[in-house]
Order: sequence, then structure tokens, then C-alpha cells
Amino acid sequence: MKVLVAGGAGYIGSVTTEMLCDAGHEVSVFDNLERGHRAAIDPRAQFIQGDLRRPETIEAALKESGAEAVIHFAAYIEVGESMRDPLPFFENNVSGSLNLMKAMVAAGCKKLIFSSTCATYGTPEKMPMDETLPQKPESVYGESKLLCEKIFQWAEQIHGVECVFLRYFNACGATEKYGEDHSPETHLIPLILQVPLGQREKIFIFGDDYDTPDGTCIRDYIHIRDLAQAHILALKPGISGAFNLGNGDGYSVKEVIDVAREVTGHPIPADLEPRRAGDCTRLISDSAKAREILGWKPEYADLRSIVESAWNWHQSHPAGYGDRSE
Ligand code: UFG
Repeated sequence: MKVLVAGGAGYIGSVTTEMLCDAGHEVSVFDNLERGHRAAIDPRAQFIQGDLRRPETIEAALKESGAEAVIHFAAYIEVGESMRDPLPFFENNVSGSLNLMKAMVAAGCKKLIFSSTCATYGTPEKMPMDETLPQKPESVYGESKLLCEKIFQWAEQIHGVECVFLRYFNACGATEKYGEDHSPETHLIPLILQVPLGQREKIFIFGDDYDTPDGTCIRDYIHIRDLAQAHILALKPGISGAFNLGNGDGYSVKEVIDVAREVTGHPIPADLEPRRAGDCTRLISDSAKAREILGWKPEYADLRSIVESAWNWHQSHPAGYGDRSE
């Protein structure tokens, strides 16, 4: 299948591109390289530089690639940043997605897989979290993704573009070639691994007074390969709607640090900091729908193997991808 990956130079996009190429798809990556990395694009994919905020660039990319489906990752992702500087999230994530859908309708491209998030639910009313929960985002980031889902739902109903919303829990891990390189980094696992890499002295735990067994927040960590696999399964004609993607297991911040100590053999000193604004106590996915309808089976569910894969990648890429344009 001819697939256009918008945001294919980013963390989840790069691994999805790699796995699409492995599966024999004809892949084009569309990216502005503002936060992604040229070196993260699989050389088997065609690279088209462009920006969703410039509609003519996505229109041209759809034409050039002849895409039958689009997988859309191109967005700002930092929750904290979205609460300090909200409007660029609406401009990039929402207007950009609107431009993409307009271009898809004009080009007759009838399938979209959208990178959504469990942050569209806000604080959940039940645990584990399935897709029937009300969506009440508590951050601009979550709101921006929910607005995109709404735009896409109407486009599906009126223009017949089949839309799949994959709502991720905590993406982590790496393949041999592609891993996590955000700047600035805010995610727990890469920050922890900066300690044994000699790039920071210690990790800070944001609050140990949550209502959990060890007092630290619990998250559902899902391997990037498993996430990427769900996108490939979702390309199948006839699939649409929302799917939560997680392992269904929760690990606390302290448990993740302990696993990283075992994997790296480094003591990884940790200090306590106050709670980080906006953090939910516990987020765990019920992914029964993805298993049943997509036939999705996470294969790298064990936290140790997730952290090991990230550690291997960071050891072989201590400076990440280096310069963005290289
Ligand atoms: N944490 C620390 N210290 C750090 C970094 C993180 O204790 O230095 C804690 C956080 O407080 C949180 C947990 O580790 O409890 C995980 O934090 P991350 O920043 O790695 O991930 P989040 O759960 O905050 O965010 C993730 C995605 C977002 C998505 C969100 C949905 O990165 O894109 O899940 O809630 F929106």
C-alpha cells in the first residue's frame, strides 16, 4: 500500500515508518523537521519536506506520493508546554490536521490513522480505561487532539474518509535503529537513562504522596514497536473508530527507576520533588477492543525488555540523532 507518514521523522513516526517498510509498504514521510530528525527517517522511505500549516505543501505531497492512506503523527506533544503557550498547539495540531483532511478529501485519499492520546480523557472515572469513557481533557495538548478527532469524525461521516484514532498510553522503548530524542526531554525513561549515560546526576521523582502503593504515579508503558504494529493493523479496510493502546499493566515511577537500575547496573540516585502540575495518579489502558478488532497483540510488554531496548539505543546514540538536519 502507498502510505504517507506525516511526522515520520519523530519518535513514533520513525519506528512506524521502519516497520511499514519492513512489511513491504511503499512509504513517503512528510515532515517539517522542526522537532523531528532527518536521520530518523528510514532510507527506504521517500522524504518530502513540508509543513501542515502550509496547505500547499501537504497537497503537493499527497499528489507526489499517490498515498492511499495517511498515518498522522505531526503535532506538538508536550503537555507542560501546551499549558504555558497554548495557541501554537491549536495552530499546529488542529489547523494542521484540518489542512491535512482538506487535502485528503481533495485528493480522494480515503484512510487516516491518527495519533491520539489517553490525555483526551482527562482524569478517568474508571480503571482500567476503555474507549467508552467521557473525553474531558485537562490540558491544551489533550484538547487539541480531541478537536482533531471531532474534525475527523465529521469528515468520515460526510466525506467517507475512514478514520482510526489510536489513543496511546506511555510510549517508550526503541528499535535498534530508532529511538527517543526530544529536546528538551521530559519523559521519564529517557531522563532516567541520562543518569547512567553521565548526562545528569540524578532523577527527580515528581511527588510521592499519591494514592498508590509507593506514593508515586502509575502509568501504562507501551513499547514503540507494539504501538507501530497497531498502526499497520489499522490500515486494513473497514476499520475505523477509537482504540486505546497500552499493556494493561501499571508501573509506578519508583518501579521504573528500579528496573532501570537493574538493566543499567547503575545506582541512579533519585531525589524527591513536588508534584508536577497536571499529572494524574494512575493511567492504565483497557485495550480489549484493539485486541479484538485490530487483532493487536503487544509482544514487548515486559517493562524490563522495554527499558533494555531504550538503554541499548541510548548507548549507541549517546547524543541522540545529533543535528536535526543530518
Ligand atoms: N516523572 C518523574 N520525573 C521526571 C519525569 C517524569 O517523576 O523527571 C513522572 C511523571 O510525573 C509521571 C511519570 O513519570 O508520573 C511519567 O511521566 P512522562 O512525562 O514520561 O509521561 P506522562 O505520563 O506525563 O505523559 C505521557 C505522554 C503525553 C501524554 C500523557 C497522557 O508523554 O504525551 O502521557 O497522560 F499526553
